[in-house]
Amino acid sequence: MKGFDEQAAVYDSVAHVQAQVVARLAGRLAGCPKRILEIGCGTGLLSAQLAARFPQAELVLTDISAQMLAQAERRLGARATYGFMDGQWPDVALGEFDLIASSLAFQWFDDLSGALERLGAMLAPGGVLAFATLGSKSFAAWRRAHEEMGLHCGLRDYAASESFPWPVGYACRFEAEFIEEMHADGRGFIRGMKELGAALSPPAHRPLGPGRFRALLARFSSGFTAQYEVIYAEIRRGNRKTI
Ligand SMILES: C[S@@+](CC[C@H](N)C(=O)[O-])C[C@H]1O[C@@H](n2cnc3c(N)ncnc32)[C@H](O)[C@@H]1O
Repeated sequence: MKGFDEQAAVYDSVAHVQAQVVARLAGRLAGCPKRILEIGCGTGLLSAQLAARFPQAELVLTDISAQMLAQAERRLGARATYGFMDGQWPDVALGEFDLIASSLAFQWFDDLSGALERLGAMLAPGGVLAFATLGSKSFAAWRRAHEEMGLHCGLRDYAASESFPWPVGYACRFEAEFIEEMHADGRGFIRGMKELGAALSPPAHRPLGPGRFRALLARFSSGFTAQYEVIYAEIRRGNRKTI
């Protein structure tokens, strides 16, 4: 994945919100899973927590960015196995997992609903899919400014917590929280996204011309607070196998 490939080497030094989310998500994990699959492992921030919390578990780390995977491998070495994989189309040959975990990767999915169905189907009986993703209220001020100026916003649309595409047949629950990140101005916000590798707009988006871009930035010349709506979710499979 282009942006993340390019920024993999510096990601950890700028991923402050992402590190907070990883800590919160890891704190919610319980039980003693034997097999763990991670989707969108990035440089391995959550992977390291998984390895520490579940020292006996087999760890399979996957991502769609080869450079991010290489960083994760640098961090965890022989403790895990690694796979280049689109989490929306998980490789069923990997087998069943007691825990499938992911932090801040699912908001990149084009088919979140289908992905949750497919990942749920890879849970062992009693297994849990635990993830953090961004909700639709993220970056509301940035989106609103575009709307008020009649501009198309290059950010992706995220799923709303109120109408999340929960898969049928599982016990699902979630909590949402807002995390704020201060920037000196609007340009600082964009720079931060680029440094993370996350400044990728959907293919149909046409970048704003220089005049419109300047007018947009003028709204945030004295500071910009980026609001992340983070959804922490758990999708649990029942204990009995269905026939
Ligand atoms: C914001 S980073 C989060 C990385 C890591 N989980 C963390 O919390 O630091 C998003 C990661 O998701 C990966 N990603 C995006 N789309 C993906 C997909 N369809 N399948 C697997 N990984 C994906 C990116 O390559 C990137 O490594």
